[in-house]
Amino acid sequence: MLKGRNLIDPMDFSTKELDEIFNLAENIIENPEKYSKVCDGKLLATLFFEPSTRTRLSFEAAMLRLGGRVLGFSDSNSSSATKGESLADTITVVSGYSDIIAMRHPKEGSARVASMNSSVPVINAGDGGHQHPTQTLTDLLTIKSKKRSFSNHIIGICGDLKFGRTVHSLVKALSRYPNNKFILISPEELKLPEYIKKEILIKNNIEFLEVDRLEDIIDKLDILYMTRVQKERFFNEEEYLRLKDSYVLNEEKMKLAKEDMIILHPLPRVNEISVEVDKDKRACYFQQTKYGMYVRMALIAKLLGVCE
Ligand code: NCD
Repeated sequence: MLKGRNLIDPMDFSTKELDEIFNLAENIIENPEKYSKVCDGKLLATLFFEPSTRTRLSFEAAMLRLGGRVLGFSDSNSSSATKGESLADTITVVSGYSDIIAMRHPKEGSARVASMNSSVPVINAGDGGHQHPTQTLTDLLTIKSKKRSFSNHIIGICGDLKFGRTVHSLVKALSRYPNNKFILISPEELKLPEYIKKEILIKNNIEFLEVDRLEDIIDKLDILYMTRVQKERFFNEEEYLRLKDSYVLNEEKMKLAKEDMIILHPLPRVNEISVEVDKDKRACYFQQTKYGMYVRMALIAKLLGVCE
């Protein structure tokens, strides 16, 4: 039963519960009209203490398409956080105004704190460099639709594996399905954090390899997950400038890839995928954004208990 629950970490829901969400999302895609009023009278609060385009708009589009309404802010400078209000107080108040909250915040662990102070479900829309579970729902629904299964894949994850919260959440989520192998492609400075390697990959006996050149291994991959170097999490501008163009996926490299490999990216892209790749049939990152809206529709409907 998902009604009344929070989504803070990708492991908060069982794989069976995730299947329920994906099944509902697929039903919504097939028959959106049927769901266009199910959240009538419900309010979603979107509290974005950190910039966002896709995630906030897709949450808002999701709620509006379910017949609900939205309120919130997209800039922490326009909230009382600037006056020194604690997150706990903000959440206590907003949970009295709304039926469900989606929050993005620059501090790791803030979503958990919010959920402990909320009387309504809280969805983590990104907490610092930690987790981003609804991006993972988006990624998984895209994988399901393109590859039919979450198992038996060789998954390349490329770019900023250190600060990329979407990467952390995706590795966790995919590690629960059998026979997946990860190839982690990053410069030395941006490797996947040790705690994820230890607590998720090593603990569960999942095969993984760390490399620094995409072109050497691209031919092995079933899924290539590209990411942006997370500028806002760097302490040192020079280091960012040195690392920002570590990887550029272009037509040349795509010639080496399998015919049925899929390319995912949480977006926004900076330079890591050149625009010439957009027309390649293996490029799925724009379709992925649409799956994100549908899966958020399913998630909101489930947490509010308005759909079976
Ligand atoms: C990601 C994020 O915010 O972590 N974007 C998103 O939600 N689609 C990835 C990123 O910003 O690079």
